[in-house]
Amino acid sequence: MPETDARLCKLVKLLTSHATVVVSGTKIADELDISRSEVWRLIQQLREIGVDIEGHPATGYQLKAIPDLLLPGMLLPLLRGTIFSSVSHYYKIGSTNDIAMEFAAEDAPEGSVFLAEQQTAGRGRGAREWHSEQAAGIYCSVILRPELPPSEILVLSLAVALAVYDSVQQVDARVIPDLKWPNDLLLGGKKFCGILAEMNAEITRVRYMVVGIGINVNQSHFPQDLQTSATSLRIETGTEWSRLDLCAALLKSLDREYAQIMQDSGARESILRRFQERSSMARGRQVEVADGRCMFAGITDGLDERGFLKVRTAQRVRTILSGTFKFAEKSKA
Ligand code: BTN
Repeated sequence: MPETDARLCKLVKLLTSHATVVVSGTKIADELDISRSEVWRLIQQLREIGVDIEGHPATGYQLKAIPDLLLPGMLLPLLRGTIFSSVSHYYKIGSTNDIAMEFAAEDAPEGSVFLAEQQTAGRGRGAREWHSEQAAGIYCSVILRPELPPSEILVLSLAVALAVYDSVQQVDARVIPDLKWPNDLLLGGKKFCGILAEMNAEITRVRYMVVGIGINVNQSHFPQDLQTSATSLRIETGTEWSRLDLCAALLKSLDREYAQIMQDSGARESILRRFQERSSMARGRQVEVADGRCMFAGITDGLDERGFLKVRTAQRVRTILSGTFKFAEKSKA
């Protein structure tokens, strides 16, 4: 599935800047330096992905609604001054993390962003599937090349969750997500964002990493098997969100968090503190852990200095390194 044709982005920009008038096929063809039949083909492509365009070759075309697409031409001007200076956009792709890992292996620069309107093989942690409905969510992967040992990457991934938290708050300060260690964001006890950080590393050095962020933004419903665990910003707030605004806010917040980690020796403490402040589950919650070899139950007791979740059991304080864990329902008392 190829990267979005750059002429499609130009066409949307052109129609958006003339949103109230009919633009003739000839004018579009001239401005984009393409043939009239090519204009028609691009218009059809936009209609296929749900952009509402009235008109036909004889009369010209008019955009009926400004589409909320994550096109590089719309996003890049909002990202000036950040490390995110290259955005690749796909209407449909298997997984943005897969394509980003491929490009990273081919030396793509730090700050390359990969966005899709739809994923057909979106991946979550633990080989789970990430439901990726067309144009409803944000499916975003970025390449980072942090000069850090692999042991510091957990803290970096906690900072990504903080960046998502901040971006949601910037768009609507009334929405207060709850962070679930290590990388989930919840609203009303259901998940609306997950983060999949993958890396290629030596023992002491990260060569590159890809941070994949999936945010359920404007979904109005989910498949049956996700209904009890997944939600979207739209379901929780009752309003449609601008994916473009949220995506820009997210990448700007991520740029800030990343710059702090790379430049400020006190950043790690700040990340651990802020993560715990924004997580109702990091302390004092009953949890059951299955870590592959054994199962244990206890009470969460904050994060250790590396970013691992501590659990106080009857015998001792343990850390959750991997595996699955389940929080008990909060008591109503
Ligand atoms: C999780 O909570 O399990 C992590 C979900 C991560 C989903 C995102 S969507 C963009 C990127 N591409 C993928 O295939 N996965 C991540």
